[in-house]
Amino acid sequence: MKEKEGNIFTVFDDLINRNEKELLLNQKSKVIWMTGLSGSGKTTIAKALEKKLHSNNIISQLHDGDNIRVGISNNLSFSSEDRLENIRRISEISKLFLNCGIVTLNCFISPTNEVRQIAKDIIGENDFIEIYINASLKICEDRDVKGLYKKARNGEIKNFTGVSATYEEPKQPNLVIDTTFLSIEESVKKIYDYILPLIKNK
Ligand code: ADX
Repeated sequence: MKEKEGNIFTVFDDLINRNEKELLLNQKSKVIWMTGLSGSGKTTIAKALEKKLHSNNIISQLHDGDNIRVGISNNLSFSSEDRLENIRRISEISKLFLNCGIVTLNCFISPTNEVRQIAKDIIGENDFIEIYINASLKICEDRDVKGLYKKARNGEIKNFTGVSATYEEPKQPNLVIDTTFLSIEESVKKIYDYILPLIKNK
């Protein structure tokens, strides 16, 4: 037991470590971080990817913005500061899953290089796999699956990413998936093929 500061005594050293848990699960954990505009396809792809991993005996956990924002982030808005706090929380949670040997599939707009860098710093660059789910604003707006772009254009939603709040494209993502041209199955296959060598022992 270590004293960190004040009256906090961390117990990290005494716990069964990540390596032992990965061995038990016969997989290696990573955080698959999907960034992109609302409606670009992050969650749709992640859901299908989760199924594919599951049927190939790989345990994963999917986190998506809407789900997280009704739970652990239910006190946060879409201001820049709150988005940063949202991403900080989910990054810390992802680290817990990482230490459990579980592959985490994260679907968050995570709109700026700054917030994605914070995620990478918390998770660790070797375990942070950044995937840009790319679809133009026009395509996302034409799809408008949740009807939110319409509301944002009407002024019913403030700070809406792509309309009244910025989205910065990732500079050097591990992978880019363009959902304008790729089907869900093709997108899932591309990601699966990319991550498999990283998460599965031969
Ligand atoms: S993030 O910017 O903090 O990463 P997050 O991924 O958690 O965002 O949440 C995005 C989801 O919240 C969207 O898919 C959409 O359903 C919903 N949403 C509601 N208001 C907004 C808004 N102003 N901007 C973006 N998404 C919003």
